[in-house]
Amino acid sequence: MEAGKSSGIRTAASPVQSLTHLHADIECYYTQKVLAHGATPLGVDWTCRPTQELRFVQLLKLCDFRQPFSLNDVGCGYGALLAFLARRHRGAQVDYLGTDLSQAMIDRAKLSWRPSIRSRFVVTGGIPRVADYSVASGIFNVKLEQPAARWTVFIKQMLAAMHATSRLGFAVNFLAPMGPSMQNIPELYRTSPEIWVRYCKRQFNTKVELASDYGMSEFTLLVRR
Ligand SMILES: C[S@@+](CC[C@H](N)C(=O)[O-])C[C@H]1O[C@@H](n2cnc3c(N)ncnc32)[C@H](O)[C@@H]1O
Repeated sequence: MEAGKSSGIRTAASPVQSLTHLHADIECYYTQKVLAHGATPLGVDWTCRPTQELRFVQLLKLCDFRQPFSLNDVGCGYGALLAFLARRHRGAQVDYLGTDLSQAMIDRAKLSWRPSIRSRFVVTGGIPRVADYSVASGIFNVKLEQPAARWTVFIKQMLAAMHATSRLGFAVNFLAPMGPSMQNIPELYRTSPEIWVRYCKRQFNTKVELASDYGMSEFTLLVRR
């Protein structure tokens, strides 16, 4: 019997077991969202398409669109980035792989498949191939009831995986610290850019560009080899 599963009580677990539960909790949260709201921004817990796409604009600053490239979209949801690429970068030659923990997300993503772009979707919490670039939008925001220390382990694990599977670089976004007029929502993970800029520079020995002036209480890290 799996520890803590039948009783609903989470007993002390190794870091690996902890992340298994963490993945299951994330998967459950986002599956419920997409079942309730379908393939829409609300279905991946965003408020609207303009801000969802503003995040894509920041993350895609990483990519050189003058030449063909491969791209891993980690936590792809229902594949909104693929639709965005097809619309906003029509001529781009992108070999795209979207991954998500949620089968329900991937089922919807497959419906928005764009034949103009080489694309594939896989249900996984890992990154199953090396690509030129990897991006992840929104995967670090909702920590649910995970302790901050375990969430930090998750972030570090994902950053390491993205670095290891990206030939040219990767990009991720985070929620910035709360402003004075904002409501405290304990389930959200907010952080200062300096912590993760410093971490990526030291850990991966890379250049890190910070984008934070796009009018949202968020920031994006562009990590280039
Ligand atoms: C906020 S949603 C954003 C979806 C999409 N990136 C977008 O912007 O439309 C985050 C998604 O990441 C997925 N996710 C979170 N952590 C993940 C991981 N480690 N591996 C794969 N998917 C993950 C969730 O299931 C969810 O669908």
